[in-house]
Amino acid sequence: MKLVSLLVLAYLLGAIPNGVWVGKAFFKTDIRQAGSGNIGTTNTYRVLGPYAGTAVMVLDIAKGTIATLLPTWGHVTTFLGTATPLLFGLFAILGHTVSIFDHFKGGKAVATSAGMLLAYNPLMFVIAAGLWVSLIYWTSMVSLASMIAFSLITLISLFFHDIYLTGIAVILTLFVFYRHRSNIQRIRQGTESMVPFGRGYQR
Ligand code: G3P
Repeated sequence: MKLVSLLVLAYLLGAIPNGVWVGKAFFKTDIRQAGSGNIGTTNTYRVLGPYAGTAVMVLDIAKGTIATLLPTWGHVTTFLGTATPLLFGLFAILGHTVSIFDHFKGGKAVATSAGMLLAYNPLMFVIAAGLWVSLIYWTSMVSLASMIAFSLITLISLFFHDIYLTGIAVILTLFVFYRHRSNIQRIRQGTESMVPFGRGYQR
């Protein structure tokens, strides 16, 4: 019973649409009606500026981290043993992408996945964050950087000899590509929006 309650809590935490709520509360703007329409960090930054974008990034990472820490705090485990936190992280990602507070729609799973990684394997999180920032610099496209970063993190996870971590990295990479379908189309057409810095940005 405790396990089920905590899994529901992980889902509900993940389901909090920070981009939507921050936009509505502080900017009277529905982020879903502007820019790419996504509720994540990139679109919040694009539409509402760096402070709002940073706030949404921190909050989206935090909900993934807190959800992943729930089994440790609640002293519950599953057949997955030490990988049980990943199950809770997945429930948060499920909440983020299929949110009960957002008509069962949601974001693209990037920041919430990062939050899960921060709680489960902080070293991997630091590597992933470094890769992601470097890739944004090289491409000036957050979407492309995110997809490449997830792919590389899957490969790097092999060095940690954690079958669960690698398995979830594979699943999340495929899922992140799936959620970025419209971005992939724009990248192919040369119309994907860029962040105003880095090597890829045409001044
Ligand atoms: O985190 C989502 C990012 O990779 C792309 O966002 O708004 O450009 O579709 P967006």
